[in-house]
Amino acid sequence: MLSLRLICGLALTIFSVSAVENHTSYTCDSPIYCEGDILHTVQLARIFSDSKTFVDMIYMYIKPTSKPEAQVIESFHALGGINATKEQVQQFLNDNFLKAGTDVKMLTNITIPELQWLDKVNDADYRGWISHLNQAWTNLTFMFDTSQLCQDCSSSILPVSRPFVVPGGRFREFYYWDSYFVIKGLLLSDQIDMAKNMILNFFDFVETYGFIPNGARMYYLNRSQPPFLTQMVQEFWEKTGDQEFMATALPYLDKEYAHWMTNASISVPDPKNPKKLYKLNHYTTANTSPRPESYVEDFNTVNNGTNYSAAEKARLYADIAAGAETGWDYSSRWTKAKYPAPDQTENYEMLRTINTANIVPIDLNSLLWNTESMMAEWYTKFGGKSKKSKRKSAYYQTQAKKRLVAMEKLMWNDADYTFYDYNMTASAQSPDFTPANLFPLWLGAIPQRILDDKDILSHVYDETENALNKFPGILTTSYYNTTMQWDWPNGWPPLSYVAMEGMRRIESYLNEDNDTKKNYTTGRGTSIARLSYTLAERYAASAYCGWYNTGGSIPGILEKVENVSDDGHMFEKFDVNTIGVSGSQGEYVSQTGFGWTNGIALWIFDTFTNLTAPDCTKTITLNI
Ligand SMILES: *[C@@H]1O[C@H](CO)[C@@H](O)[C@H](O)[C@H]1NC(C)=O
Ligand SMILES: *[C@@H]1O[C@H](CO)[C@@H](O)[C@H](O)[C@H]1NC(C)=O
Ligand SMILES: *[C@@H]1O[C@H](CO)[C@@H](O)[C@H](O)[C@H]1NC(C)=O
Ligand SMILES: *[C@@H]1O[C@H](CO)[C@@H](O)[C@H](O)[C@H]1NC(C)=O
Ligand SMILES: *[C@@H]1O[C@H](CO)[C@@H](O)[C@H](O)[C@H]1NC(C)=O
Ligand SMILES: *[C@@H]1O[C@H](CO)[C@@H](O)[C@H](O)[C@H]1NC(C)=O
Ligand SMILES: *[C@@H]1O[C@H](CO)[C@@H](O)[C@H](O)[C@H]1NC(C)=O
Ligand SMILES: *[C@@H]1O[C@H](CO)[C@@H](O)[C@H](O)[C@H]1NC(C)=O
Ligand SMILES: *[C@@H]1O[C@H](CO)[C@@H](O)[C@H](O)[C@H]1NC(C)=O
Ligand SMILES: *[C@@H]1O[C@H](CO)[C@@H](O)[C@H](O)[C@H]1NC(C)=O
Ligand SMILES: *[C@@H]1O[C@H](CO)[C@@H](O)[C@H](O)[C@H]1NC(C)=O
Ligand SMILES: *[C@@H]1O[C@H](CO)[C@@H](O)[C@H](O)[C@H]1NC(C)=O
Repeated sequence: MLSLRLICGLALTIFSVSAVENHTSYTCDSPIYCEGDILHTVQLARIFSDSKTFVDMIYMYIKPTSKPEAQVIESFHALGGINATKEQVQQFLNDNFLKAGTDVKMLTNITIPELQWLDKVNDADYRGWISHLNQAWTNLTFMFDTSQLCQDCSSSILPVSRPFVVPGGRFREFYYWDSYFVIKGLLLSDQIDMAKNMILNFFDFVETYGFIPNGARMYYLNRSQPPFLTQMVQEFWEKTGDQEFMATALPYLDKEYAHWMTNASISVPDPKNPKKLYKLNHYTTANTSPRPESYVEDFNTVNNGTNYSAAEKARLYADIAAGAETGWDYSSRWTKAKYPAPDQTENYEMLRTINTANIVPIDLNSLLWNTESMMAEWYTKFGGKSKKSKRKSAYYQTQAKKRLVAMEKLMWNDADYTFYDYNMTASAQSPDFTPANLFPLWLGAIPQRILDDKDILSHVYDETENALNKFPGILTTSYYNTTMQWDWPNGWPPLSYVAMEGMRRIESYLNEDNDTKKNYTTGRGTSIARLSYTLAERYAASAYCGWYNTGGSIPGILEKVENVSDDGHMFEKFDVNTIGVSGSQGEYVSQTGFGWTNGIALWIFDTFTNLTAPDCTKTITLNI
C-alpha cells in the first residue's frame, strides 16, 4: 500500500471528482457510501463515534482503467469481508481511504469589509462582537477540492464548481435550509458574490438531480430539506434588484416545485366529508435502509431488540429519512410517543414510533404556498410577455389559492388562533405549540377572512407569548421533554427568526392604517412589537454569552474569560432554560461555527438597533 500513497502524492493536480459524474442514476446507490456489505460492516464495527465520519472518507485506487469501486470491494473481501474483525476493518480503512474532510478546502483569500451599518449598533460590546462575526464567514467558506490528494480519488461529495459557506463542525459541506440563513447573513455582510454562488450551486443541483438534496453529499440524494430556494432568490432580488438574475431563476424554481408536487404531495380527505380531497404536501422518502451518515443509529432503531416485519422495517427506514428531510431531526412533531419510555436507554428508541409521512406539516405547506405566490408574481414581472409566462403565472396563482383553502380548512384552528400540523393517522390537527405554526404568519399565508379581522389576527402570537413567559431563553421548539433535539429544552435560531420577523410583519399590518384609537395587543395586553423585541434581546444575549463563556474576546473591548482555552463558539442551538448555554441532545454532539446562528445575529443587529449587551457572568433575565 506504500506504492499507492506514492502514486497519490505524485499525481497531477487536476480537479477530478469522478464518482458522481459516472453515476447514471441520481439516487443514493454507491456500494460504499450508500448501502451494502461494506457500509454495514464498517459502520457496525464502530471505529468512529460519529457514523458520518466513514461516509466522508475518500477512497483511493491504483489502476485508473478499472472501476475504483471494484478495487475497494476487492480489498474489502481480502480483509475478511462481512466477517472482518474490528482490526481488519481498521486495516481496510487504512489501506483504502483518506481522512474525512480532506476533500474540502478552506478558502484563504476571502476578505470581508467592515459592516456598512455597524454604527447602528449602539452598545460597544455588541458592536465589537458583530464586527467580529462579520469576519467569521472567512472561517466557514470552502470549496470542494481533491486535487491535492490524488488524481482519481472518489469521495461522497456532490461536486460543485463554486465556493460555499458551510454550517460548521461536522457539517463539512453545505446544506439546503441552513443556506437560506447563511445567505441572509452574507447579504448583510455585502458578500453578494458569495451569496450568488450559493444560489447558483443550488440551481446546478436542480438541473442535475431534479431537486435539491439535503446537503452536498451523495448520501443525501434520497431526500431534500425544507424548500427555501424561493426565499433565497427573493432575498437576493431584494438586495440587488437584479432582473436578469430573476429571469434566469424561474426555470429552476419551476423544476424544484415540480419535484415537490410529483414526489411529495398527498391527498387529504376532508374529515367531515371524506369524498372531498385536498392536495397538500408532506415529507417522504424512498429509503429502504439506514441513512448512511447515521447508519448505526438507524440500524439499531430498527433492529436492536425489536421484532419488526420486513414491511414495517422498510416503513421505518423511509419515515426516519423523511424525518431528516423535515430539517427537524428529530421531534415530537413526527413521533407518536411524546415522552420516552421509562426504560429508554438510547435517544433513538423514540424513533420507533415515527410517523413522518402521515403528518402534513404547516411549515412545508407555507413554504410551498410562498413559492406559488412568488412565482405567480415573478412570471408576470420577469417572465417576458409571452403566452407561456401568462399561463405559468395564472397556474401558480391557482395553486396558491387552492393550497390556502386547504390549509385553512384542515390546519387553521379558530379557537386557538393558530395553524397546526395535520395528522393523517388521527384525521385531525396536532394541537401542539411549535414555532412551525408561525411559518404562515411569517410568509403571509393567511386567509383573507383572518386578514380582514384584526381582532383575530392580534391573537396569533398569544401562545408564543406564553412560551416566552415559560422559559427565559429563545423560543422553545416544543413543550415536550423527549430527549430529541428538536424539542424542549432546545431553541433553534431559524425558528426564533421566523417568529421575530413574522411578528414584525403582523405588527406592521395591524397598525398600517395608523388607527391610534385601536391598540392591537395579544390576549395578555402585550404589543406584538414588544414580543419580537424581547425575543431579539434574548437571542442576542444567548449567542453572545455562549460565545463569551467559551472564550470569545474582542481586543481592547472585551477580555477573555479566565481558564478557557477556546476562542469563542457560536452554537447551532440553545438551551431555552439558561441564556448563554448551548442546546444538547440528538444524534450528534452540539456543533459550533455556526452558519445560521451568525446570519440571524447579523439580521437582529441590522433590525433592532437599541440592544444592550448583558453581563454574561450573571444570571440574565429579559422579561417581556
Ligand atoms: C468515469 O468515466 C470516465 C470516462 O467516461 C473514466 O475515465 C473514469 O475512470 C470513470 N471514473 C469512475 C470513478 O468510474
Ligand atoms: C462469514 O462467516 C460465515 C459463518 O462462519 C460463513 O458461513 C460465511 O461464508 C462467511 N462469509 C464470508 C464472506 O467470508
Ligand atoms: C480564491 O481562491 C479560489 C481557489 O483557489 C479561486 O478559485 C478564487 O478565484 C479566489 N478568489 C479570489 C477573490 O481571489
Ligand atoms: C477563525 O478560526 C480561528 C481558529 O479557530 C479563530 O481563532 C478565530 O477567532 C476565528 N475567526 C473568527 C472571525 O471567528
Ligand atoms: C422522485 O420520484 C421518482 C419516481 O417515483 C423516483 O424515481 C425518485 O427517486 C424520487 N426522488 C427522490 C429524491 O425521492
Ligand atoms: C434510496 O432510494 C432508492 C429508490 O429510489 C432505493 O433503491 C435505495 O435503497 C435508497 N437508499 C437508501 C440508503 O435507503
Ligand atoms: C442494543 O441495545 C442494547 C440495550 O439498549 C445496548 O446495550 C447495545 O449496545 C445495543 N447494541 C448495539 C449494537 O448498539
Ligand atoms: C397522530 O395521531 C395518532 C392517532 O391518534 C397518534 O397516536 C399520534 O400520536 C399523532 N401524532 C403523530 C406525530 O403521529
Ligand atoms: C426530561 O427527561 C429526562 C429524560 O427522560 C429526565 O431525566 C428529566 O428529568 C426530564 N426533565 C424534566 C424537567 O422533566
Ligand atoms: C402611517 O404612518 C406612517 C409613519 O408615520 C406613514 O408612513 C404611513 O403613510 C401612514 N399610513 C397611513 C395609512 O396613513
Ligand atoms: C395605545 O398604545 C399607546 C402606546 O402604548 C398609548 O400611548 C395609547 O394611549 C394607547 N391608546 C389607547 C386608545 O389605548
Ligand atoms: C428598544 O426598542 C424597543 C422596540 O422599539 C422598545 O420596546 C424598547 O423599549 C427599546 N429599548 C430601549 C432600551 O430603548
